[in-house]
Formats: sequence, C-alpha cells, structure tokens
Amino acid sequence: MKDRILKEFKSRFVTEPQLYASAGRINLIGEHTDYNGGFVFPGAIDKVIMAAIAPNETEKVKVYSIDMDEEVEFGLNEEDAPTSSWARYIFGVCREILKRGGAVKGFDAVFAGNIPLGAGLSSSAALESCFAFALNDLFNDNTIDKFELAKIGQATEHNYCGVNCGIMDQFASVMGQKGKLIRLDCRTMEFEYFPFAPIDYELILVDSKVKHELADSPYNKRRASCERVAKRLGLETLRDATIPMLKAIRPDITAEDYFRAKFVIEEKERVLAVCDALYNGDYEKVGEEMYATHSGLSEDYEVSCEELDFLTQLARECGVTGSRIMGGGFGGCTINLIKTDKKDFFIERVTQEFKEKYGHEPGIYPVVISDGARKII
Ligand code: GLA
Repeated sequence: MKDRILKEFKSRFVTEPQLYASAGRINLIGEHTDYNGGFVFPGAIDKVIMAAIAPNETEKVKVYSIDMDEEVEFGLNEEDAPTSSWARYIFGVCREILKRGGAVKGFDAVFAGNIPLGAGLSSSAALESCFAFALNDLFNDNTIDKFELAKIGQATEHNYCGVNCGIMDQFASVMGQKGKLIRLDCRTMEFEYFPFAPIDYELILVDSKVKHELADSPYNKRRASCERVAKRLGLETLRDATIPMLKAIRPDITAEDYFRAKFVIEEKERVLAVCDALYNGDYEKVGEEMYATHSGLSEDYEVSCEELDFLTQLARECGVTGSRIMGGGFGGCTINLIKTDKKDFFIERVTQEFKEKYGHEPGIYPVVISDGARKII
C-alpha cells in the first residue's frame, strides 16, 4: 500500500510527502456505553488508512482517494465544505483544528486503506485520526495532544457528518498500541492498557456485509433514548444509574427507553467483568460476557439484524468462545474470540452456511491488535 500511495502522489504532485497511518479498531466489549459515560475496551487493529501528505504553499487542499478513484479540492473556510462524503471527514478535521486555534494550511494528499468499509471497523475514525495526526505534525509541531486529536475526529463526526458518536473509535484509532487493549472510562477519560496477546486464542471478525449507515440512522435515536432516561433519573449520563433505579421509574418511561437503558447499565458492568477475567486469563468468562452482550444488543438495544444473530448462533454451535455484534450495529461484523484449534472448522462452516442462507459469502478478517496513529516516514 505504501509504495502505491507514494507512486500515486509522485504522479500527481511535485513535492516530497510525509507518510502517516492510523488504524481501524475492534472493541472486545462495552458497546453503546461511550456516550453514556461508561467503559469501553477497544484496541487498534492491523488494518489502516495510510496517507501521503505535503504542504502546497496555497490555501487549498487537494486530496486523491485511491480507493474511490476521486480527487477533491476544497478551501479551508466553513463555506468551502466539499460534498463528497469521504472528503467531508478530512475537511471536518481541518476545520476542527482551526476552530481550536491550531494551524492548517493548504496541502496535497493521496490516501488509501484496507479497512473494510461499512463493516463497523471505524474506517471513518481511522481517516480522521490519520489526517488529524498528520496535520498536527505538519502544521502544529505536534502541540495538540493525542486526546485532543481524538476529540477533533469525534467533533468532525458530530459537526460535518451528522453522527452523534461517542469517543471510542477515534480514541482507539489514535491511542492504540500493539498487543494492548485499552480500558477507557468515558466519563473521566482515564484509561489503562491491558496486554492482549493470547497464545491459544485469536480474534476473527465475520462480516455479514449488511451495510449500515450511521448518519440519520437509529444510532442517534438510541442515544436520545439514553439521554431521556438519564434526565428522568436526574443524572448527567446513565453511568451512575442502577437497575433498581431504572425499575423505580419504569411506569414513567416508555418500554423502549426502559430496555435501552437496561442494556447500557448491564453492559457497563460487563466491561469490568471482562477486564478482570482477562487479567486472570479466564477466556471462557470473557466469551460468556461477549455472548451476553450480543443478547442485550439484539433483544434490548435492538441494533442487531437477522444475519448477525445467525452468525452469533452459529459461532456458539461451532464452539467459538465468545461472539457478538461489534460497533454501532444494524449490520457489519461480529467479533469472535476463538481457540486457534477451532478456527479452520469455524471459518469453513460459517462461510458455507452463511452463503447457503443469504446468497453471499461473509467476509472473514483475522485481526491482530496493533499500533494506532503514527508517522511512517
Ligand atoms: C459507533 C460509534 C461509537 C460507539 C459504537 C457503539 O462505532 O462511533 O462511538 O458508540 O458505535 O459502541
């Protein structure tokens, strides 16, 4: 990928670029908890967005996406927003840096990626963090701290892409480290790295290839439900809510809001249980909690779909240690924690049975926990 990007850059622009990358992410457990002030447990993966970038001494940004085979040019003022959806992520990052008093000047860029799109692996967060990291290096002497880079990506989603997302994806993409998951407390933003390099287990994502679109989707509606319940409980977020507290207000809220909040309260506890289990090397327990998350996401939070329920059920039948829908939902991947000796059997069966039922093969992506945003050359 590196050579292709550099070659493409040289064919389009005259300057010598720097090369940057940032990663997609998995989340072992802790779904829809980030915007509720809860815990998440993500890590960056070995699938990236990579970009060659060089200042061009103008006030214009020219970016070519190899994967979309499209070049977009835009200015840096608010009214210069491009219409192309991928370019809006880059424009948003520029604007959010400028809004914070940082510097961004014109630049040329070429980028590509190997993160499957719409699969719930946060390719958009990787794109945002790659450019935020690069523009911090190129124009700001790296004076913007890494946390702020993650927040710049998140604000880009909110203000330029219509998704009221939490901080998890951008945080993992920026802060990820090889062989480590990160437990992040989304209320205090305190975090801790947990070594994750199991010998007998692997992580495999199975992509249903059902596409989800977070903007204008029920994602924002889920968030609104949680906020309504928190408000009704007199809390800032559901972080401090408990099941007894929720039960006490049950007559005053809709059944839908009740079950959304119930999932979030239970999920918050599951993250802590999984961290403990991982610490003790108890992968069976980790897996059990993953299945419990899937049930909650499917039945109470209602962000699953038939294909994802099928994949999780089949994983259980194949003896996969833990399996669940990952990310925002409404399609995309399941994350599977699997014993290495069961891997081939599972992949073969899931590929065959999914195809028989839905007419297309699922994507199978083994993932390794890797570094997040970084400069390559
Ligand atoms: C999407 C959002 C995240 C998070 C997850 C669900 O990936 O971008 O902030 O809310 O969904 O856990």
